[in-house]
Amino acid sequence: MSREGSGVQREGERGFTLWFTGLSGSGKTTIAEIVEKELRERGRRVEVLDGDIVRTNLSKGLSFSREDRNINVLRIGFVANLLTRNGVGVIVSAISPYKEVRDQVRRRIIDFVEVFVDAPVEVCAERDVKGLYKKAYAGEIKEFTGVSDPYEAPAAPDLVLKTNEEEPEESARKVVEKLEFFGYLE
Ligand code: PPS
Ligand code: MG
Repeated sequence: MSREGSGVQREGERGFTLWFTGLSGSGKTTIAEIVEKELRERGRRVEVLDGDIVRTNLSKGLSFSREDRNINVLRIGFVANLLTRNGVGVIVSAISPYKEVRDQVRRRIIDFVEVFVDAPVEVCAERDVKGLYKKAYAGEIKEFTGVSDPYEAPAAPDLVLKTNEEEPEESARKVVEKLEFFGYLE
């Protein structure tokens, strides 16, 4: 069988799942969008799975209970795995607060890069881009991550981004460098 026919892929065509986890307002979506643009410019096939968007279709109707969040994360992981094994660069941005299920997904997807988007909850609340923290502190949203619901930080992420100390472009550059280091980009 020829090399082409053996299923061996050249470097830069290997699929991967780049998984951003972190609090609401930590910068997951913003950084994911910059990385997405950069990868497209480099000719990579890319798909983005963002929690906010997934919850309007694939996970429509799910709550923010522990059980439903885990179902959401497992669904995202399922789709990410299908795409990854077909050579797509998958970018996930979801709070994914529970370590156990995150690790479950991580074990399932061979080419997995975990990025912890790390900003103190006070900073996220100060930004309050969507006005959700204000509501959460007022008790109008129950089970709000970091306020009235847990967030379990990753123990051994591939990359930690301190988004209160650097601009999103700088964070995105570090992510792209990490993908290069792992051999996912030309
Ligand atoms: S999870 O925990 O992974 O299932 O969450 P995810 O699918 O990423 O959805 C997070 C977005 O939902 C909005 N939102 C909330 N976040 C956290 N807790 C509560 N209770 C909540 N209610 C609504 C919010 O816009 C999140 O988006 P990001 O981009 O993280 O701010
Ligand atoms: Mg977001």
